[in-house]
Amino acid sequence: MARLKLAVLISGRGSNLQALIDACRDPAYPAEIVLTLANEPDALGLERAKAAGVATRVIDHRNFPDRAAFENELTRAIEASGAGLVCLAGFMRLLGAGFVRRWRDRLINIHPSLLPAFKGLHTHERVIEAGARFAGCTVHFVRENMDEGPIIAQAAVPVRPEDTAETLAARVLAQEHVIYPHAVRLIAEGRVRIEGERAVIERARTPTGALVNPTP
Ligand code: GRF
Repeated sequence: MARLKLAVLISGRGSNLQALIDACRDPAYPAEIVLTLANEPDALGLERAKAAGVATRVIDHRNFPDRAAFENELTRAIEASGAGLVCLAGFMRLLGAGFVRRWRDRLINIHPSLLPAFKGLHTHERVIEAGARFAGCTVHFVRENMDEGPIIAQAAVPVRPEDTAETLAARVLAQEHVIYPHAVRLIAEGRVRIEGERAVIERARTPTGALVNPTP
């Protein structure tokens, strides 16, 4: 069966890119990365892609007169790669309506909170500040409004009383690396359809039981 071709867009560290690279190493995984695109020339993730033999391209937003010109170049590069799914993985530029429309339902993002709670930046600080007992991460289709769009997969982790933003971020990140390849697999297997503004997963398995924090 043909594997779904992925373009992964990054700005920095690229640990989620690495999780996708690692998943794609398995010949039975139904997707492959055909392009890693970075808007930052020294994004660490570029080295990860190169080490894995994945094609890389830098498109520096500073070299374009406006956002539309930058995004047109992104689209040209993605089209040339033949990718059928665009994965944002720590891509730190807001994408405009034109780009989002062009890739509608073929553009996904990972966000380090249980959306729709805690959109935006500094999620872990804000979760701790709010006294929430759970944090987590979400893979979702991208819509025009930041951190909105049909949810594909989420993972929840407990917040511990002694957590700092750093310890909580690490606990969440470990789960990001689980759910991103998982969500891509669901899409690649053709099991995700969008109904209204909700993603419906065919043959989804739901965990039993509940997490309670603090433990009763
Ligand atoms: C992750 O926390 C992701 O959820 C957010 O940006 C971070 C990127 O980390 N969108 P990395 O570059 O994948 O290591």
